[in-house]
Amino acid sequence: MNPSPNPKKLDAFWMPYTPNRQFKAEPRMVVSAQGIAYRTPDGRSILDGTSGLWCVGAGHRHPRISEAMKAQIDQLDFASNFQVGHPGAFTLSQRIAEHAPPGMDRVFLVNSGSEACDTAMKIAMAYWQALGQGQRSLFVGRERDFHGVGFGGMSVGGMLNNRRVFGNAMLRSDHLQSTWNPSTQAFVRGQPALGAEMADELEHRIVALHGDNNIAAVIVEPLAGSTGVLVPPVGYLQKLRDICDRHGLLLVFDEVITGFGRFGGMFAADVFGVVPDMILFAKTVSNGAVPLGGVIVHRRIHDAIMQGPLHLSELMHGYTYSGHPLASAAGLAMLDVIEQESLVQRVKELSRCFENAVHRLSSLPSVVSVRNYGLAAGIELSAVKDQPGRHGARVQQVAFDLGLLTRAPGDSLVLAPPFVCAPSDIENMVQRLADAIALVAKESEFCQ
Ligand SMILES: Cc1ncc(COP(=O)(O)O)c(C=O)c1O
Repeated sequence: MNPSPNPKKLDAFWMPYTPNRQFKAEPRMVVSAQGIAYRTPDGRSILDGTSGLWCVGAGHRHPRISEAMKAQIDQLDFASNFQVGHPGAFTLSQRIAEHAPPGMDRVFLVNSGSEACDTAMKIAMAYWQALGQGQRSLFVGRERDFHGVGFGGMSVGGMLNNRRVFGNAMLRSDHLQSTWNPSTQAFVRGQPALGAEMADELEHRIVALHGDNNIAAVIVEPLAGSTGVLVPPVGYLQKLRDICDRHGLLLVFDEVITGFGRFGGMFAADVFGVVPDMILFAKTVSNGAVPLGGVIVHRRIHDAIMQGPLHLSELMHGYTYSGHPLASAAGLAMLDVIEQESLVQRVKELSRCFENAVHRLSSLPSVVSVRNYGLAAGIELSAVKDQPGRHGARVQQVAFDLGLLTRAPGDSLVLAPPFVCAPSDIENMVQRLADAIALVAKESEFCQ
C-alpha cells in the first residue's frame, strides 16, 4: 500500500493535465476503490462517473484481473520482447486479433494511447516507404480530436491548447473540420442525422490541396471523446472510408476510449460498420489496472513491411515495456471478463437507460447541449464570458464534493460510467451531476 502523503508535502509531484496550484490548494484525493466507486481519505464514497479515465469498464479491482496479475508477478515479473519472447504477449495479441474486424490480425503492443498513435504513424510511414512511396508524409487529423501527447499524436491531434506551445516541433499535418455543429446537434440523441457531407472536405480541400500521393494516413477518433463527446453524423465515417479508398489513403481509427466495449460492440468500427486500416487501443483493454495499449494492423500493411535481411528488425520501433508480462496478464484476464460476463451486451442494454438519464439534464437552464452514444455523454454548460472552462471546472469540483467523479474538458462535463453499473447507479450519477449543476447555477458568477 502506498503511504498517505503529508498534506503539506504535495509540491514534488508535478501533476499531469492538472491546474497544479489550484489542486494543491484544495486537493481531491482518493485512496481506494471497489466496483464503481472510489473512497476518499475521510471515508466518503465517490461514484466513478468516468471509469477512471475511460479505463475501468469492468469496475475497480475486478477479482479475476487482480488474481491474474498477482499470479503473473510471482511467475515472470519482466521479460523484454526484444529478440526473446514470453507467451503472454503472443496469446494476448492473438486474442485481440480474434476480436478485430476481418483482415486486421497483426497487433503491435505498447503502453499507452499516445504511444499507440505514434506507433501507427510510424507504421504508416514504413508502409509507404516499403511500397516506394516515401514522399507520403502528411497526416490528416481533425479539429477537436485527441491522439495523446507524443509529437506524432500532438501533430495530428486537433486540440489547440495541446499544440500552441509546441508548434515548432510538429510533423506535417492538416486537419478536417470538427463534425460538431451546435445549431443542428445540440440535443440530439445518439448519432446526428445531418452532417455526413462534412467528410467531403477530405477530398475537396485536403486531397485537392496536398495531392493524395503526399498523404500518409487519415487519423480520426470515430467519436471525439476528449473534447466532450462529439458523435459522428450518420454516414460520415463511411464517407471518409470511401474517400480514402478512392485516393489510396490509409484510414486509422483511434479507439483508445471506444475500443473494448464502450459502445456496445467490441470496437466502434463494428458498431458504425466501417473498417479502418489500423485501430489504436489502450485503457479498457487492461481495465486500467496496468498501462497497456497497442495498434491493430491490417495484415496487408504488416506484410508489406516484412522485408529485408532476415537477421534485421523489419520495423525499427518498440518500447522496453511493449507486451510487458503483467500488462499481458491483465489484458488476457480483461478479455476473459468481457467474454464471460457479456460486458459488451451489458453496455448495449444499459445504453438506452443512460441516454434517457443524461437527456433529462437538458432541462437545466445552464445546459446548452447534451450528446451521447453508448456509455459516453457530454453535457455542455454555458461558458462564462471570457473565461472558457471555468464553469465546467467549478461543476466538476462541486460534483466531487457531492460524491461523483466527472471530467470537464472545457465547459463540457463527461460521463463514461463503468459497464458493470446497474440502472440505479446511472440514475445516481446523473442525479449528482444535476445537483452539482443546479448548485453552481446559484453562485453569482454562474447564474444565468
Ligand atoms: C482518443 C485518445 N487517444 C489517445 C489518448 C492518449 O492516451 P494516453 O493518455 O494513454 O497516452 C487518449 C487519452 O485520453 C484518448 O482519449
